[in-house]
Amino acid sequence: MKILVTGGAGYIGSITTAELIAAGHQAIVFDNLYQGHPAAVHPEAVFVQGDLADRNAIAQLFAEHNDIDGIMHFASYTLVGESMQKPLLYLRDNLVNAANLLEVAVEHGVRRFILSSTANLFDAPEKMPISENERIVPGSPYGESKFFVERLLHWFERIYGVKYACLRYFNAAGDTPGRGEDHDPETHIIPIVLQVALGQREAVTIFGDDYPTPDGTCIRDYVHVVDLAQAHILAMQAISEIGSRKYNLGNGNGYSIREVVETARMVTGHPIPTRIGPRRPGDPAILIASSETLRRELGWQPRYPDLESIIRSAWQWHEANPQGYQK
Ligand SMILES: NC(=O)c1ccc[n+]([C@@H]2O[C@H](COP(=O)([O-])OP(=O)(O)OC[C@H]3O[C@@H](n4cnc5c(N)ncnc54)[C@H](O)[C@@H]3O)[C@@H](O)[C@H]2O)c1
Repeated sequence: MKILVTGGAGYIGSITTAELIAAGHQAIVFDNLYQGHPAAVHPEAVFVQGDLADRNAIAQLFAEHNDIDGIMHFASYTLVGESMQKPLLYLRDNLVNAANLLEVAVEHGVRRFILSSTANLFDAPEKMPISENERIVPGSPYGESKFFVERLLHWFERIYGVKYACLRYFNAAGDTPGRGEDHDPETHIIPIVLQVALGQREAVTIFGDDYPTPDGTCIRDYVHVVDLAQAHILAMQAISEIGSRKYNLGNGNGYSIREVVETARMVTGHPIPTRIGPRRPGDPAILIASSETLRRELGWQPRYPDLESIIRSAWQWHEANPQGYQK
């Protein structure tokens, strides 16, 4: 298949592009490099620098590549905290950018679409692990913006026949030898912990140690970026036959922040000091996914089911690339 990967110079998009190409597919990467890195783009992918806010740029892309089979849409504003400060970047821009993309895609007859959605749809879960039947309660304008796009897809299916999958990732983590996580600012716990091990930060701040969990710190479900990539490829291959789907995507195991730090100490051999900060507003105590539907329907099997193998893969990349892509 020929797949358009928006955000394919970013963390998850670049690794998914590499997995697509390794599986024999073709990829066109569209990215404005707001957070992405040219060096992360697979050399066999076609790279187009452009912004989804620019409808003409998208139209030009589709005019030049009139045989696109499907879209994997990673490009978006991605930060929960920022969305509480600048809600319209999310509620407006994330929606409008996805709408621009879908509008042009449908004009060009593209009917397969995979969305990077999020566990931030589930701010008040009633059952753990969280299944697709859980009530949607977005935890921030970021999560709400992903829900807007899920609803846009619902109507584009009814009206234009677009088949889609919404993959609601829990905590994406881990790296590959050639590509890794390099955000500015970095807000994700595993790269932050590894920056302490590399001597680039003094300590890890743990936001709250009085949650109702065994060690008082928040529990999250970490899923390896290669396993996320595989879920995209499986979904892209299946949706035309099985129809549109929403899948929660995690390993089904919860690890506390203290367990993340402890595992990173073991993997890196560094003491990794911590300090306790205040809770962050809107951080639920526990978020663990049930990915049973994805396993059952698509045969998805994570290759990195445990925290240690995820952190080892991340340490391998961060140790080899301490300045990220800025060598
Ligand atoms: N990282 C996680 O744990 C996680 C969890 C749940 C969902 N997600 C979602 O997965 C997707 C990828 O996340 P990531 O961590 O790889 O983020 P990222 O920031 O590394 O990648 C996003 C890419 O999109 C590009 N981009 C942003 N706005 C654009 C625009 N208007 N036009 C063109 N390109 C644009 C950026 O330059 C960047 O390369 C995002 O949609 C994010 O919301 C991520």
